[in-house]
Amino acid sequence: MEKLVKNISKGLVGEITIPSDKSISHRAIMLSSLANGKSIIKNFSKGQDPLSSLKVCRDLGIDAEFQNEDLIVHSTGKLKTPQTDLDCGNSGTTMRFMSGILAGQNFNSTLIGDESLSKRPMKRVIEPLSLMGAKIEADNFKAPLNIYGQKLHGIEYNSPLASAQVKSCILLAGLNCDEPTTVIEPYISRDHTERMLKFMGANIKTDNNKTIISKSELEPKTIEICGDISSAAFFIVAALIVPNSKIILKNVGLNPTRTGILDVVEKMGGNIEILDKKEISGEEVGDIKISYSNLKACTIEGEIIPKLIDELPVIAVLASQAEGQTIIKDAQDLRNKETDRIKATVAELKKLGADIEETPDGFIINGKSELNGDCTVESYHDHRLAMSLYVAGLICKKQININGFEWVNISFPEFENLFEKIIM
Ligand code: S3P
Repeated sequence: MEKLVKNISKGLVGEITIPSDKSISHRAIMLSSLANGKSIIKNFSKGQDPLSSLKVCRDLGIDAEFQNEDLIVHSTGKLKTPQTDLDCGNSGTTMRFMSGILAGQNFNSTLIGDESLSKRPMKRVIEPLSLMGAKIEADNFKAPLNIYGQKLHGIEYNSPLASAQVKSCILLAGLNCDEPTTVIEPYISRDHTERMLKFMGANIKTDNNKTIISKSELEPKTIEICGDISSAAFFIVAALIVPNSKIILKNVGLNPTRTGILDVVEKMGGNIEILDKKEISGEEVGDIKISYSNLKACTIEGEIIPKLIDELPVIAVLASQAEGQTIIKDAQDLRNKETDRIKATVAELKKLGADIEETPDGFIINGKSELNGDCTVESYHDHRLAMSLYVAGLICKKQININGFEWVNISFPEFENLFEKIIM
């Protein structure tokens, strides 16, 4: 699907509620499937990725049905032998988390994915799971993953990557081991899994970037999922760069392992304010007020990277509108996402007129540049690229055309409708 995006001169004004967090939705359906009893998940994401996790859990014998807006999950806490290959679609989180859950079952299973997911690296999970005794066959460490269920044992794992997907995969495998399992990360990555495991009564301890899990039974719960800060990011950036904008985003998850974008906006001098902070189902949540700002460049590197990894393409758009040189480093794992997001972001923002260069582990962006637009750009079948380009299109002098805009549905089907509500 092609999408035309035009310059908006009158700004973005109003208040919108940000839809459900994709990361937390994956965890909610998977952990509820492992709990014995009835769980209620409120505000489960309508994105295709969390729906892939839901489908995989159903194919493993879990009874999960929507009743109005709630997802009601009935489970005995045990999964059943699947009658089919388990299709993770485009979702790396589904594949990496499920590999940890399935490696320790008393049945065999196969995880498959779409073209993009089948190219993504799975060595990062196969290696630690193999150390726990898992048997996984995968050509060149890529999907399909043939998993031969085994009794696993606990390990202490020093992860070379600050990756929540790797950490969570090992912790989920560790849930059933007789010995404790420890994961140590170079920097702390998002900790939604640890929080939800705690919320559901698991025996888990965290100390900064070290997490220890011991054999646990999970209690079914009512889990209320907050709005996704990674979805909010597109509105945050749009309001900062479109003149005359002033918006409020309601119900945004503010887990400190996800709020790197807010720290960057503050460093750049953006007008941003957090209102009405509270806790829901073990996660911090609040409203965010943002208005158009004069921005200055900054350097983004080191331990903040995992806290904003998914926001970097739209932060590149933001940096194109900040005075000076923004340098983004230590983000080499962006090349392993739904597409190589360093290459793709640079290629497409250059077409629009941004001054942006690729480095091995990030970008160098010189601002502030006037974006001309007047061209067609590509989504690379990547939801976050499509949405970042839409945001850039709002300030281009001439209209742009985005190819493959339907990929937005992977995480944020409500994206365009919400923009239409606040475009003046
Ligand atoms: C996710 C973790 C991140 C992120 C992905 C979702 C998660 O991946 O990029 O979109 O839900 O745990 P890594 O942890 O591998 O960086």
